[in-house]
Amino acid sequence: MEAVKISEDIYWVGVIDWDIRNFHGYLTDRGSTYNAYLIIDEHITLIDTVKRGFSGELLERIASVIEPEKIDYIVSNHVEMDHSGCLAEMIEITGATLYTSPRGKKGLKSHYQTEGWEIEDVKTGDVLDLGKKQLEFVLTPMVHWPDNMMTYLQDEGILFSNDSFGQHYATSERFDGEVNTPVAMEEAQTYYANIVMPYSSQVQNEFNTVSDLKLELNVIAPSHGIIWSDNIPEILEKYKKWATGKTEGEALIVYDTMWKSTEKMAYALQDVFNSQGITTYMKNLKVNHPSEIVPFVLDCEYICVGSPTLNNNMMPTVASFLTYLKGLTPGNRKTAAFGSYGWSGQSIGLVADELEASKFDVFAQIKYNFVPDKEDLEQIKEDFKVKLNDITKEVN
Ligand code: FEO
Repeated sequence: MEAVKISEDIYWVGVIDWDIRNFHGYLTDRGSTYNAYLIIDEHITLIDTVKRGFSGELLERIASVIEPEKIDYIVSNHVEMDHSGCLAEMIEITGATLYTSPRGKKGLKSHYQTEGWEIEDVKTGDVLDLGKKQLEFVLTPMVHWPDNMMTYLQDEGILFSNDSFGQHYATSERFDGEVNTPVAMEEAQTYYANIVMPYSSQVQNEFNTVSDLKLELNVIAPSHGIIWSDNIPEILEKYKKWATGKTEGEALIVYDTMWKSTEKMAYALQDVFNSQGITTYMKNLKVNHPSEIVPFVLDCEYICVGSPTLNNNMMPTVASFLTYLKGLTPGNRKTAAFGSYGWSGQSIGLVADELEASKFDVFAQIKYNFVPDKEDLEQIKEDFKVKLNDITKEVN
């Protein structure tokens, strides 16, 4: 296993995890990579390590360039264990000095036995001189943990961006220009939705800091997935859009169903959106995992959530989706609750309550007793169209 050259004396030495399919509840059907980077200079420097259990691959790639024992400095951009899991082993082998944020220092102490480690904490704007090359640190707290920071290689314009701009995407290629770019963008969107979305205001701060420091970005090297080089304006534009919550004006209909009555209602709502020229995504929770649905939230102005009433409640799949969505705090969307019921009908109000608790505006609650026939569905469409038109007018 060889290192991959990024630029003169700079190498990717990470690992490819082809098999991971679940990253704390986020389904990762394309696997992932844990990226680490090696800089050869008077002070040889490793940026991040990899998940525990993968040190063999990391060491083999480093050894294809230099003896790992020669590493002088290790930069820890993030305490999360998929990046710090091999730190103890690397420090044992190298005796390197560790550079991290103050929160990183604290975090590492609560994750590992750090006695005897030489740890230097850094702040935004601090520069580490490697000899010919200089590393500048940019603290980015809460994108995604309190300790996160990015490391910028001056002159070369390489930003080791950590969680920002990452994707769970295992490929044998390392650069965006070598892969199917729409797939890389799709995985970046999925990563943003599932990991970064709750920290969108911090992402906006991150953009301000990069702009204040006048960092020119020639390469963006995140801690997961491919390295951005050919599509930097495009990925920056996407991040700015996602961070500010600007949608594509589309609609998302998420539901579960028992005897297909709620499903019939879901398709009736889809007809209304389509009649207004609004692109609509149908997501049946029996076949779609919440982590596969939330990337669509980034593009959708309208979110409709449907559940039949089961045991005086919403269906557990719907509750699970709403809990996941609430944690990601997308806000600023127009939502509706709908569903069929047999006798008590609480699910629709409970879904609406949960949407409101997630700080969404609920513009419609539509419930139907038992099985809607063709005529009933026409009435449901008519009622929904009126409510949709009301809020569309408000928007315009
Ligand atoms: Fe892959 Fe927040 O770390």
